[in-house]
Amino acid sequence: MTEVLAVDPLRPAAGAIARAASIIAAGGTVAFPTETVYGLGANGLDPDAVARVFRAKGRPQDNPVILHVADADGLKPLVEDVALPLALELAGRFWPGPLTLVLRRSPIVPAVVSAGLPTVGVRVPAHPVALALIAASGTPIAAPSANLSGRPSPTVPEHVLADLTGRIDALLSAGATGIGVESTVLDLTGPVPTVLRPGGATLEDLAAALGRVEFHPAAAGRVEPDAPLPSPGLRHVHYAPRARMVLVEGADATAIRQAALVLARGAQAQGARVGVLARPGLEWGLPGCLVQPAGARDAIGAVAAGMYAALRELDAAGPDIIIAEAYPEAGLGWAVMNRLRRAAGEISHAAAP
Ligand code: TXA
Ligand code: MG
Repeated sequence: MTEVLAVDPLRPAAGAIARAASIIAAGGTVAFPTETVYGLGANGLDPDAVARVFRAKGRPQDNPVILHVADADGLKPLVEDVALPLALELAGRFWPGPLTLVLRRSPIVPAVVSAGLPTVGVRVPAHPVALALIAASGTPIAAPSANLSGRPSPTVPEHVLADLTGRIDALLSAGATGIGVESTVLDLTGPVPTVLRPGGATLEDLAAALGRVEFHPAAAGRVEPDAPLPSPGLRHVHYAPRARMVLVEGADATAIRQAALVLARGAQAQGARVGVLARPGLEWGLPGCLVQPAGARDAIGAVAAGMYAALRELDAAGPDIIIAEAYPEAGLGWAVMNRLRRAAGEISHAAAP
């Protein structure tokens, strides 16, 4: 049974938070909203509780999870790193917010959290419900996104329930999350800070804060099949729609439309059901296409906020092929394109051994 605790996103009732915290303390699993996507939380210092999160999601054992803490002080006991001063500086600028910092982990972090890596990812979420839950639980909360492994991350409580009803103990249900794509994962363990996953904190903002920041090739969603992948999550199929997904790239709206029309007609001629993920108002002029609006090119925030819901809608409609418009790789566009490229399979899927 999954207990649904409905709360106000801005002022969650103390009773519901206390109930959720008691489930965390007892080693249970609670889904909760953050500013990015819903997370599936458990006591991050209890290996059995974290193992329950992996089981509920069907998550591969070698993909580490992020620890969520209340503030920068919560980071200190979890890490042992010469990069701590830099981490605290970044925390001052970006936390609470969608930036996960990867540092060397201290012995109090269970190996299951890090999937055996010597590092741990930590962030302070910018959401009143998440912060209230962390405070009431009095422990770092380990939380991957609250979806079944291989499904799009959940941005509304209905997505969590669709994937995890009966598999988790409780859900703090508090409406839609804001940003809609996950946090940026930044590795601070090497000589140069390196983005492993683009997300809510933009590359431009990180570059402004850090001066020098690298972008791992996998973070764009493009890697050579045998390139080393520092973040195990990058090796896994992230989200793959049942349909084959094709990205149409280009800056010019007419050219994009033309290319999409050719693709769609070709697929339809072979009897395929065609889904289209594209900006609203773009006249694809194709009868029989399932068109899912995805936001305008110059409104990338709206694209990010609605992308996972749009992909779930399209999946439910069951097209054989999804034609998706590519977005400019700037700001949140890096995160959007990383997710779309990976959904389209434009990344090495070499399975973990
Ligand atoms: O916004 C988010 O980050 C959401 C909310 C719930 O906080 N969480 C989330 O978790 O997206 P998850 O597990 O779906 O994605 C975490 C990503 C994975 O790609 C994982 O491989 C990477 O972060 N990661 C976690 N710990 C890491 C570590 N120690 N080293 C390298 N990558 C790590
Ligand atoms: Mg995830």
